[in-house]
Amino acid sequence: MNKKLDFIFSRRSIRKFQNKKVEAELVQDILQAAAAVPSAMCRDPWRFLVIENSETLQKLSTIMPNGSFMTEAPMMIMMLGDIKEAHIESESYMLQDCSASIENILLAINALGLGGCWCGIHPRSERVAGVRELFNLPENIIPIGGIVLGYPAESKEPRTRFDASKVHYEKW
Ligand SMILES: Cc1cc2nc3c(=O)[nH]c(=O)nc-3n(C[C@H](O)[C@H](O)[C@H](O)COP(=O)(O)O)c2cc1C
Repeated sequence: MNKKLDFIFSRRSIRKFQNKKVEAELVQDILQAAAAVPSAMCRDPWRFLVIENSETLQKLSTIMPNGSFMTEAPMMIMMLGDIKEAHIESESYMLQDCSASIENILLAINALGLGGCWCGIHPRSERVAGVRELFNLPENIIPIGGIVLGYPAESKEPRTRFDASKVHYEKW
């Protein structure tokens, strides 16, 4: 693994957090990184919901059962897509743009000495519906995933899951 790419390899899903708030300036830094990704026709369909309220995180943990650890986290940045703003109003373009943005959020979190984990919402209809109801979202706003983050209380080894058999050169 090339040392120059450590900022990528050292990004791991962190699910245990210190009891410490993330400074507002860092949250702004993360959001700026989130909006520095490619976007089809530069439509920037991402929308962000910044959640620090512990009762809201508690409610979300019941809607997103694979993210139960969010009750012990200081915050979540939820990624939502505006389908009306996506290139040709395509769900696929919206999800590709927003997924690129989520990865930048995770890389920024890591670079800033924080830790985080992507918790899936879309395409599970019950989670999408639950989040939609909780926040009374307009019809065009689609919840995609939540990034739970904070100061880490666990550390994980850098790694890649590279598998040479998944790479094809010049022909399939
Ligand atoms: C679309 C998507 C949804 C995910 N949802 C969850 C989730 O609900 N709960 C969770 O703990 N991790 C979730 N993850 C994180 C993966 O479990 C994790 O990225 C994977 O195990 C690889 O580990 P790493 O992130 O440390 O490299 C999700 C990741 C993706 C890309």
